[in-house]
Amino acid sequence: MPAPGSWSCSAPALTVELYRLDETRDIQTFEVDHPATQRVKRERLESRLEDPPQNVNFVEVDFEKDNLEHALEVAGFDKKKPTVVLWEGVVSYLTEPAVTANIAVLARLLVPSSRLILTYVHKGALDGSVTFQGFRRWKSWVRPFIFGFDPATLAETVRPHGFLLQSDLSTAEGARHYCATNGRSETGSELYRVATMVRAGA
Ligand SMILES: C[S@@+](CC[C@H](N)C(=O)[O-])C[C@H]1O[C@@H](n2cnc3c(N)ncnc32)[C@H](O)[C@@H]1O
Repeated sequence: MPAPGSWSCSAPALTVELYRLDETRDIQTFEVDHPATQRVKRERLESRLEDPPQNVNFVEVDFEKDNLEHALEVAGFDKKKPTVVLWEGVVSYLTEPAVTANIAVLARLLVPSSRLILTYVHKGALDGSVTFQGFRRWKSWVRPFIFGFDPATLAETVRPHGFLLQSDLSTAEGARHYCATNGRSETGSELYRVATMVRAGA
């Protein structure tokens, strides 16, 4: 994979990836989040960070109704550079039309070889067709999940948009691969997944 020319991260600051990773300091970065969350996030960051990273552009977008493409262009997003998009912990809260529309926008914005990494809940957990341990606890959360993908059809769902699925792991599988070997104790979940896809093309 080529070194990315830019990162576009949706809502990562609640877990502060952008401010933790030295590797992203020299890469133009766009942090996209809902206006209400973005405001709170910025207030907290400004009060805590002595030296806020200069490479991070904050972009306010409601994925249900705002134009992501326009918002990123106004913020200076360069459509010619390969980009890594991290859409973490977000699609589960969106309607299906919003997820589909924003994937279509990303397909237009991203040059071939760019990556889209997204986390999602297994659709079977939401429609009850698959039973997962611990799902009752997830269902009791204040803001419930409303959208999921079916892992069996994810590749064919994203292919018409120009994305080729490269990997799709439950976070439990991910934890077995990566956490245990790094001395970390997280166990992940069988119903919550991480998918990586590449923008196809010449
Ligand atoms: C559970 S947080 C995930 C944040 C972070 N990636 C993490 O793992 O902690 C969900 C994020 O989705 C964002 N979100 C939910 N609905 C949204 C919408 N309609 N438009 C934009 N962002 C939205 C929220 O603002 C919030 O930042």
